[in-house]
Amino acid sequence: MSDRAVIWHDIENGSYTADIGLWRELAERAGGPILDLGAGTGRVARALHADGHTVHALDSDAGLLAALSERAPAIPVHAADARRFELEERFALVIAPMQLVQIIGGSPGRAALLERVRVHLAAGGKFAAALADPFEAVAEEDRSPPYPDMLESDGWVFSSQPVWVGEEAGQVIVERRRQAVSPAGSLDEELAPFALDLVSADTLEAEAAAAGLEPVSRHAVPETADHIGSTVIVCRR
Ligand SMILES: C[S@@+](CC[C@H](N)C(=O)[O-])C[C@H]1O[C@@H](n2cnc3c(N)ncnc32)[C@H](O)[C@@H]1O
Repeated sequence: MSDRAVIWHDIENGSYTADIGLWRELAERAGGPILDLGAGTGRVARALHADGHTVHALDSDAGLLAALSERAPAIPVHAADARRFELEERFALVIAPMQLVQIIGGSPGRAALLERVRVHLAAGGKFAAALADPFEAVAEEDRSPPYPDMLESDGWVFSSQPVWVGEEAGQVIVERRRQAVSPAGSLDEELAPFALDLVSADTLEAEAAAAGLEPVSRHAVPETADHIGSTVIVCRR
């Protein structure tokens, strides 16, 4: 059976497609090499690579990058922290899809990431980062849980379903119930909480400007039945 971390990553991120068109558009306009920060198993990097772009993938989780390399061996991968990396290449576009900037250790973490981004952008290059749209409270009685994301691997059936969303101390907490059913029918179950820092587009743009990146545009990625919407901010070096 594949690595469980890869399986949960694929279940919880792999089926999201609402943002892909925007990354494709930005990549097309960039006209040069692209760096995907927090690339995971390469949901976005592989789509851009398939379009013919030169894409590098960086993630702090070497196991996820190993899965990416199995699927797309031609994509250069870098196992590193997005707040501390040093690469030789300079990029026309650096992207941070799926709220990486909200799981990077608050304002100090974002400042470190933005500094690394500026260093790795070619002059005139762009940085694009996705922020989850503000969480809208829905009355408990009006909430129906989304269908679970599911995946079958070697006779095991895995599912992951958000069961609770709330705000605590400046973060949105999403709690998922992860279930794995073995080929013999036994059930493993765990609750997996996931915390996103609350960051507005105004705040991120101000932080980017302080790091020497000029905000140039904002783009809306609409919500879907399973995912909240997001705003992608784009800044230029
Ligand atoms: C929500 S997933 C998104 C994966 C992928 N970008 C996508 O859109 O499908 C966030 C990714 O960021 C990575 N990550 C978290 N903290 C990181 C850090 N400090 N430096 C680099 N990657 C990080 C995680 O390992 C994970 O792969």
